[in-house]
Amino acid sequence: MVKGARVCIVGAGGGGVAMAKALAQRDLPFDWFERSSQLGGLWSQSDDERRRGAAYSSLHLNSSKRRMEFSDFPMPEEYPDFPSLREVAAYLAAYADRFGVAGRVSLGREVTGVGKSACGCWAVRIDDRDERLYDVVLVASGYHSTPKFPAGAAHGFRGEVLHSHDIRNAAPFAGRRVLVVGFGNSAVDIASMLSTTAERTYLSTRRGTHVVPKYLFGRPFDELPAPPWPRSLRWAWYGLAVRLTVGSLGRYGLPAPTHYFGQAAVTISSDLLHRIAHGVVQPRPAVGAFHAESVTFEDGRREEVDTVIYCTGYRHSVPFLQHSGFDPGKINYRLFEQIWDPRAPSLAHVGLVQPLGSLFPIVETQAELLADWIAGRYALPRCSVMSRAIRRDQRRRERNYVASERHLLQVDEPEYSNRLRREHRRGIKQARKQRRAAATAPDAPQSPLGATDGPCTEIAY
Ligand SMILES: Cc1cc2nc3c(=O)[nH]c(=O)nc-3n(C[C@H](O)[C@H](O)[C@H](O)COP(=O)(O)OP(=O)(O)OC[C@H]3O[C@@H](n4cnc5c(N)ncnc54)[C@H](O)[C@@H]3O)c2cc1C
Ligand SMILES: NC(=O)c1ccc[n+]([C@@H]2O[C@H](COP(=O)([O-])OP(=O)(O)OC[C@H]3O[C@@H](n4cnc5c(N)ncnc54)[C@H](OP(=O)(O)O)[C@@H]3O)[C@@H](O)[C@H]2O)c1
Repeated sequence: MVKGARVCIVGAGGGGVAMAKALAQRDLPFDWFERSSQLGGLWSQSDDERRRGAAYSSLHLNSSKRRMEFSDFPMPEEYPDFPSLREVAAYLAAYADRFGVAGRVSLGREVTGVGKSACGCWAVRIDDRDERLYDVVLVASGYHSTPKFPAGAAHGFRGEVLHSHDIRNAAPFAGRRVLVVGFGNSAVDIASMLSTTAERTYLSTRRGTHVVPKYLFGRPFDELPAPPWPRSLRWAWYGLAVRLTVGSLGRYGLPAPTHYFGQAAVTISSDLLHRIAHGVVQPRPAVGAFHAESVTFEDGRREEVDTVIYCTGYRHSVPFLQHSGFDPGKINYRLFEQIWDPRAPSLAHVGLVQPLGSLFPIVETQAELLADWIAGRYALPRCSVMSRAIRRDQRRRERNYVASERHLLQVDEPEYSNRLRREHRRGIKQARKQRRAAATAPDAPQSPLGATDGPCTEIAY
């Protein structure tokens, strides 16, 4: 353990809360900053604060409660299979309470900059005035706050242009003709929600994706038993189950996916197909051109619209790291185990993953690993080993997923969590060896935070 290490957590969503709990359980001190007025992240922010978050009032989990919950704190029995925004917020608040960390977060405090200070530690700027020094910064600030628009978005269109990030509920769209662009979870949720009040709702998709209903064979889709097969077989089994339940997407006027199930993020919705079947969401192909009050699609059809809503995802940026030299976006998120930049391991990330699966179990596993590292019970491997692992991951991602910016953070949940646990066990053994070596040679220099070969300079991106 680095005695008296000063630790800072940024963000109090699911990732930050899991991190605080893991540190508290090891009696490790930390400061913890959250810019909004409550903990819970995107699930709990007030309508006003949600301007910086990505949730809308009709949002429900798209992973089932049994797959999303933390291992030592089940979601309440009375919760539905796919809890709402409010229920997830209440669950996170109860979790923080149960593990005694709820009162430890400084709410309404925004980290506005992080940079290396002359002492080699991190200078963390809070609310653009206060500056504090830390040995370790744990970034759990989420990555869904900077909307991404396509180049030349809605060029020439004179109506309203929004992003999914701006949408709170259906009321403002009553009687309007709305075009929703995208085929991710935001697009299908928002198109389904707005179609309850809008005069017309068009959904424009540029390529096919697998649409997974929330229930398969009468149970939540992610609780469908699958034998512990290798990845490709497991996904083939899911793909078959989805195909048997949904049939051909072409029947709904949606493009068929050209990739196998599991090779891209999936879109989870039971509502969309019903809304299309009822004729209130009308699928359209990619946009060909915008005009002042209408849009022409690539199949030549032209529709008049009042509002265009881009549900085209988020820039995975960490704004307060932009000038630090360690913005993960600048290295295409090539991090060791999606947590550590080997050049600066003491600036670590929690929740910087997009799982095929659920996020909370992942941040729990990451938090346990990070807390043991800070406690000196886990040692990072040598720089060259981290570097090789990063390259291996990169190749795995290129092999497994469709090439898209959207998949830079993609992981397969069980596979990734198992890998983290294996790495955790390896690092625990190594830390033990290091402690034994230190006990026999007490004067030997100790490297910080269990890194075995000091700062890493040999990484080439
Ligand atoms: C609309 C939507 C729905 C989703 N649904 C699911 C789902 O069903 N299942 C699933 O597994 N995943 C889902 N996800 C992924 C989701 O990101 C995670 O489930 C999870 O809630 C993210 O937790 P987090 O702590 O990493 O980030 P967040 O919940 O975004 O929390 C980050 C926190 O950091 C704070 N913060 C940010 N910057 C600063 C700063 N500079 N200073 C201080 N505080 C800061 C924010 O205010 C926020 O409270 C969804 C994502 C979105 C956008
Ligand atoms: N719990 C829930 O129900 C729920 C709801 C909403 C969001 N979420 C989660 O929140 C995260 C963000 O989801 P998201 O849907 O906002 O973003 P996303 O997953 O990144 O999806 C973006 C969509 O926009 C499309 N797109 C991107 N650029 C485009 C362009 N230039 N022209 C046309 N289409 C374009 C993408 O298509 P390509 O595939 O072709 O790139 C994709 O279909 C995801 O992790 C998601 O699972 C969950």
